Amino acid sequence: MENYKKIIEDIYFEIKTIDDTGEIANYIPELANVSDHNFGIHITTIDNESFGIGDFDKKFSIQSVSKVFALTLAYKFEDAKLWERVGIEPSGNPFNSLLQLETDYGKPRNPFINSGAIVICDVLLSHLKNPKEDFLNFCKELSNNSSLNYNEKVAQSEKKSGYRNSALCNFIKSFGNIKNDVDEVLDFYFHICSLEMSCKELSKISLFLADDNFTSHKGNKILTMSQAKRVNAILLTCGFYDESGEFAFRVGLPGKSGVGGGIVAVHPDKYCIAVWSPKLNKKGNSYKGMLFLETFTTKTASSIF
Ligand code: DON
Repeated sequence: MENYKKIIEDIYFEIKTIDDTGEIANYIPELANVSDHNFGIHITTIDNESFGIGDFDKKFSIQSVSKVFALTLAYKFEDAKLWERVGIEPSGNPFNSLLQLETDYGKPRNPFINSGAIVICDVLLSHLKNPKEDFLNFCKELSNNSSLNYNEKVAQSEKKSGYRNSALCNFIKSFGNIKNDVDEVLDFYFHICSLEMSCKELSKISLFLADDNFTSHKGNKILTMSQAKRVNAILLTCGFYDESGEFAFRVGLPGKSGVGGGIVAVHPDKYCIAVWSPKLNKKGNSYKGMLFLETFTTKTASSIF
């Protein structure tokens, strides 16, 4: 950890003041109320050593990062049957694109683009009695953290302006790949996206993807080794939408971004690292977050490649 600590500190001060060419997401009006000066990093190793700097303890809207935990829970219920409903290929298109759904007959390319996550939410609705509460409890178990919660304001703000997600859900339903009521699926989807965490919490909750021996505080194994390997593979190939190749090329770790400006990256068998900086590049990924992680894996020689 000493080595990581010094490197993280150095990169933090190097990047903190650079000119950030990104822009804060404003298509969800509530997200635009967050100060774009926030910048935090937190690393947690599989031995539970940890270090954070900057705004690492402030909660933010994790947005699409929550798709990782939704996929995990759906995968636990359905195992390989899940891939009949959603694919495992990079889409090469923006996260909210409708384009491929027409020719793919309503089967989203992967679980991390909006269309795929909406289908995952539909799968979860078919399994969970109280979907919002049960999903939150699953996240609490994953992280051994009972303080986790949705941000109702963010969920409602997205609901009011969620025209594209509404279109996606209705369009997929027209092909029969949404089984539940469209409004219920969307309400659940907007809530999971509104989940809040700090970098510290985000790096900790993701450890089940880095540590083969992970069990929750309740003694439950979350995914089998094979399932965790597959989730990491999809993160590497699809976690950054049409910038997944760029992230693999520059950072070289499985990871997931969200339009709240958070990114979590996983080094299997070593650590999870979370970065938060709200200004996004043109592809919807945190500008400083990507730059930080690129410099971090370079200086620590810890990309998986
Ligand atoms: O559905 C949306 O558009 C947002 N709730 C989540 C999108 C997102 O985080 C994309 N990530 N970079």
